[in-house]
Amino acid sequence: MNDAPHAPTPLEAEIRRRIEAAGPMPVSEYMALCLSHPQHGYYVTRDPLGARGDFITAPEVSQMFGELIGIWMSAVWKQMGSPARVRVIELGPGRGTLMKDAMRAAQVVPAFRAAVAIDLVEISPVLREQQKQTLAPTKIETHWYASIRDVPDGPAIIIANEFFDAIPISQAVRTEDGWHERCVGIGEDGRFAFVLAPEPMKHIGVLLPQAAREAPVDSIVEWRADNTAIDLGRRVAQDSAALVIDYGHSQTDFGDTLQAVGKHAYADPLREPGEVDLTAHVDFEPLTRAIELMGARGYGPITQSRLLRGLGIETRAMTLKAKATRAQAADVDLALARLVGIGRTGMGDLFKAAAYVAPTLPPPPAFEP
Ligand SMILES: C[S@@+](CC[C@H](N)C(=O)[O-])C[C@H]1O[C@@H](n2cnc3c(N)ncnc32)[C@H](O)[C@@H]1O
Repeated sequence: MNDAPHAPTPLEAEIRRRIEAAGPMPVSEYMALCLSHPQHGYYVTRDPLGARGDFITAPEVSQMFGELIGIWMSAVWKQMGSPARVRVIELGPGRGTLMKDAMRAAQVVPAFRAAVAIDLVEISPVLREQQKQTLAPTKIETHWYASIRDVPDGPAIIIANEFFDAIPISQAVRTEDGWHERCVGIGEDGRFAFVLAPEPMKHIGVLLPQAAREAPVDSIVEWRADNTAIDLGRRVAQDSAALVIDYGHSQTDFGDTLQAVGKHAYADPLREPGEVDLTAHVDFEPLTRAIELMGARGYGPITQSRLLRGLGIETRAMTLKAKATRAQAADVDLALARLVGIGRTGMGDLFKAAAYVAPTLPPPPAFEP
């Protein structure tokens, strides 16, 4: 972590003004400003993905990831009764790489490919432009929206890879007199610091399972107050299906998972706001609860390794290697190890996948019992 002095970022000055005027701000407000402030937000001002950016995601690791999701989508479309028009909606599509690879793979089911219109939910103007360029060769009708709520109704297959981890979290800390919301204020050294709201939260009990209410002092609990899961669940319950892939845990747990990453290294979440990526683990338990409450049926979460192996990543890797040079074949092996590998260097078990479908549909591929 780099702790060297630096000139304040424009967003840092703005957040400081807000704290001085109104007092410490909840972590959720701080994270929302850092990521999506209309002028200085991290995602608004840059394309952060790839080797020269701040982090790399599974579709950027290998074409195999998007291709297998394209195959998954075409199989789910058949399970839906092969509707003549289907919306393929992606939440937070990054550079559009997953969608490009998915649509190329979907050519093996021409009727599905012909039925697709693409809807992208994206806040970043920089990434929207990048997505436009990436997807132009597909010649598929594509529209952009700021929220899933704005996408017109109709049968849809919804994909969200590393989207929910960028949705702001709220945090609360257990003290002797109850749970206090965790906020960002100004510490004695003049820098941003985590502080607790003075009054305990009154209604936190409804957010927490019974066991959590007896958590030891200093425990931290996190939740997302965002409505995307509700909107997604409402839509899926009608006539649609969704695949959510993200890093996180299957069951609610305690702990501070807010993390900052810049230039492929961990950073301090309170330093250089707007210049580093902020994310937090996705808790699949409340995500699934919210989606199922709207009438959709949830499957998983399963590990990313199980998802990709279930969809045939090893066979796909062998096919790619059969036509590759020795160096290219080594790259395929490296990518495979990264996507399904377990432990510190692999994404295979940290990343989880959950599928949500209308109650009339069978379990989707890779999620069969
Ligand atoms: C970590 S990137 C993942 C990109 C892509 N899915 C991938 O796997 O490469 C997060 C994406 O979500 C977008 N995003 C973040 N917050 C958003 C929000 N509140 N609404 C819509 N898009 C958002 C970002 O601009 C970016 O495209």
